[in-house]
Amino acid sequence: MKILVATEKPFAAVAVDGIRKEIESAGHTLELLEKYSSREELYAALADAEGLIVRSDIIDAEAIAKAPKLKIIVRAGAGYDNIDLQAATAAGIVVENTPGQNSNAVAELVLGMAVAAARNGFNGTSGFELRGKTLGLQAFGQVGRNVARIAKGFGMEVSALDPYCPAEVIEEAGVKPVSDLKELYSGNRFVSIHIPATPQTVGSIGYELITLMPKGGVLLNTARKEVIDEEGLKRALTERPDLKYYADVKPSNAAELEELFAGRVFFTPKKTGAQTAEANINAGIAAARQTVAFFRDGTDRFRVN
Ligand code: 3PG
Repeated sequence: MKILVATEKPFAAVAVDGIRKEIESAGHTLELLEKYSSREELYAALADAEGLIVRSDIIDAEAIAKAPKLKIIVRAGAGYDNIDLQAATAAGIVVENTPGQNSNAVAELVLGMAVAAARNGFNGTSGFELRGKTLGLQAFGQVGRNVARIAKGFGMEVSALDPYCPAEVIEEAGVKPVSDLKELYSGNRFVSIHIPATPQTVGSIGYELITLMPKGGVLLNTARKEVIDEEGLKRALTERPDLKYYADVKPSNAAELEELFAGRVFFTPKKTGAQTAEANINAGIAAARQTVAFFRDGTDRFRVN
């Protein structure tokens, strides 16, 4: 089988070596397409691909139509909003993700951004400490749980809202369960977003919620830019000069926000939460193993469509 690894943002070389080993030792062929700069390059590589491993690469209906032999797409990572599930299902293609494999990397970045925000972007002025401060997690999935673990090491008071996670599971982690979004935003100095982008969540965090945050509030977003109502965010930052927004998922109006709110907003140049050697190895090798297992005997434990 030909397995295409198409990553516009490449994995670390050590992860690619591991992926190659998994695929080739199972008798398959690996084609590596990294840092591609046009859809045509991707489409050409898809023409004879039977398996596909991607990161945030957009696999829409058009891309799927260019891949007549494709049987499986594995998103090496958690969020699969980059893949048109309906088109994949209609074409008989299995779609999987690799949940949890890169979550510690994202969680470490969350705390890194929290420290940076608390220290005013390391500009030399007097900041504040995380110890004793409140942190609200919007969702208690794999990333949220890792953020809680690390934040507790900093001495933060952590609470979480997750309608899909039983309150006992949240409590067992030493985290206070919260049942209302307004309570989450009004009760925490830091709020960290860990929800996926779905039709229900897109644009769901805006002016009303953000302005509920207490004085000096810091909103952290390592999830997806789409969950933010960007005009609402701009209005909130305008009316509340004490608020900060730090994100690993650059908003569409990033340049405007950077100009208007210099020192209060921070955006990584490229989504970098999962960009560590460890996360690349974990997610990349998991994706390769899942692909191999699927072709071996149809195993599809992490199927999402
Ligand atoms: C994920 O959903 O797993 C993260 O957003 C990481 O995405 P990336 O593979 O594009 O870095």
